[in-house]
Amino acid sequence: MSADEPAETSQIVVRRGGAQDVRFLRDMLHHAYYWKERAPDAGPGPVALYVKAWGRVGDTAVIALDRGFPVGAAWYRLFDRERPGFGFVDERTPELAIAVVPNARGRGIGSALLNALLERARAEGYPTLSLSVDRANAGAIELYERYGFQRVSEDDDSVTMLAQLTPLVQQPTI
Ligand SMILES: CC(C)(COP(=O)(O)OP(=O)(O)OC[C@H]1O[C@@H](n2cnc3c(N)ncnc32)[C@H](O)[C@@H]1OP(=O)(O)O)[C@@H](O)C(=O)NCCC(=O)NCCS
Repeated sequence: MSADEPAETSQIVVRRGGAQDVRFLRDMLHHAYYWKERAPDAGPGPVALYVKAWGRVGDTAVIALDRGFPVGAAWYRLFDRERPGFGFVDERTPELAIAVVPNARGRGIGSALLNALLERARAEGYPTLSLSVDRANAGAIELYERYGFQRVSEDDDSVTMLAQLTPLVQQPTI
């Protein structure tokens, strides 16, 4: 960094994710699953299905970069009824996962990722997007509600949320 550049400069860029990002997605999945505890040696746990064999039809990811370094990711994938994700609604509704590295949270990166991913999902023509979130994860639930996700079911541990992605109908101009 040059001397005349402010130390706090933060330039968040969101780009499409690809096969080269699978390792980072796996790390982010770990953060998403162990959102309230540190579990440095554990793998992604039972949520590994959200990244396993990445590259299936429909798999879509966006990556946030801060001065070139990946600091967060959001992605979605479709599941079969026989092998559903935890927030499975139907086979046409992709399930979303998201996490931002701990020291970059609270700066709008999660919002930027959600914006970009919802835009992608709309562009791909998906009518809905779902997710599963720990019912104690109030911060994430608040964020999802802000982006139009609504609770559709819950059990003792988690909540399934669904967003309707139908694009706004353009009002005719007079
Ligand atoms: C949830 C997460 C992705 C949000 O990313 P972020 O970059 O911190 O999000 P933003 O800075 O855009 O925050 C947007 C809003 O999210 C909500 N929010 C997110 N995390 C929160 C927290 N820990 N406590 C309170 N509110 C929180 C707030 O409403 C916030 O709005 P505000 O800044 O106006 O208060 C991030 O906190 C994270 O990675 N958490 C751990 C992983 C996780 O829980 N993933 C979801 C699993 S389903």
